[in-house]
Amino acid sequence: MNKQLLNRRVFNRLCVALGSSFFSVGTMIMALSSASARAATPLVKFHDGTSVPALGQGSANLAQGRHPEAAEEEALRTGLSLGMALIDTAEMYGDGQSEKLIGRVIAGQRDRVFLVSKVWPNHVMGNGIARACNASLGRLGTDHLDLYLLHWPSRDTELSSIVAAFESLRAAGTIRAWGVSNFKVSDMEDLFRVSHGDRCATNQVLYNLGNRGIEHDLLPWCEQHGMPVMAYSPLGGAGASLLRDSTLARVGAAHGCSAAAVALAWTIRNGNVIAIPESGSAEHVQENAVALSLTLRPDELNALDEAHPPPNR
Ligand SMILES: NC(=O)c1ccc[n+]([C@@H]2O[C@H](COP(=O)([O-])OP(=O)(O)OC[C@H]3O[C@@H](n4cnc5c(N)ncnc54)[C@H](OP(=O)(O)O)[C@@H]3O)[C@@H](O)[C@H]2O)c1
Repeated sequence: MNKQLLNRRVFNRLCVALGSSFFSVGTMIMALSSASARAATPLVKFHDGTSVPALGQGSANLAQGRHPEAAEEEALRTGLSLGMALIDTAEMYGDGQSEKLIGRVIAGQRDRVFLVSKVWPNHVMGNGIARACNASLGRLGTDHLDLYLLHWPSRDTELSSIVAAFESLRAAGTIRAWGVSNFKVSDMEDLFRVSHGDRCATNQVLYNLGNRGIEHDLLPWCEQHGMPVMAYSPLGGAGASLLRDSTLARVGAAHGCSAAAVALAWTIRNGNVIAIPESGSAEHVQENAVALSLTLRPDELNALDEAHPPPNR
């Protein structure tokens, strides 16, 4: 491991140690005196003032036999210790098994985690959202979620009832904020037309160097509305096919880090995107955490644009 990489990792640990209360106070102010650790962990701010690290951890395929569960728990704990304090899950991941695994990881350190879960659109009718949320809380072993998302648009339930259900959970303190996932611009416009729809904290969507479609319309729309985006599959999805890209490998070699770190640094480069890579391997998580302190140079961003052009406006 080279010296630069080691410093980054030490730095990330320092950030976690200093920033353990940033979710509750709403903002995170970090002053590091060491010459090797001047930069701050990149944060993304929600409209309610809460800031989270730009790099979190996904969990869609955890607790489903891809790795031993002890290894997956260790991977998540490693991510937390390196500053990837946001954990994304959903009731439908492994039919609740992912939430249960996360419950074991966060036991005893709930206040250090920004916890996100999602309700499946078939469960939103009547008081379904409150029921699904309670079931998720039980599996996660906590009394609140930091963020609760509608996993996909619902075909049969009005957005106004969904927003009302989220707002009543928020008023009760069961969730701190709510948002959506897989919403197109037209879905977002529909959402903002209903009462309190503009309280939506985020939209979680597919975004990575090889899938830049949202740059065409959704990303600018969210930026105009002051709303961060959560990027899922930032490494290209299951199997991480994106990481075989030669430009990513070349830029990584220049920085002494992995192609994965470059892909993630690219995803979070503008300060309005939170990337949630998944890994069941502590070694991979260590590689990924390097993205928190990796700034890509303009010539490197240009080379990545050339290899993976942005969509035409
Ligand atoms: N809202 C939605 O509809 C939606 C849809 C899809 C995903 N998501 C969320 O987004 C998260 C991430 O997306 P994703 O799981 O589709 O894809 P991803 O994070 O882009 O890629 C995951 C894959 O990358 C591998 N990987 C991770 N770090 C690596 C590294 N440093 N080097 C090499 N391989 C590495 C993982 O294998 P190892 O375990 O072996 O490291 C796994 O195969 C999900 O877990 C979920 O929380 C949400």
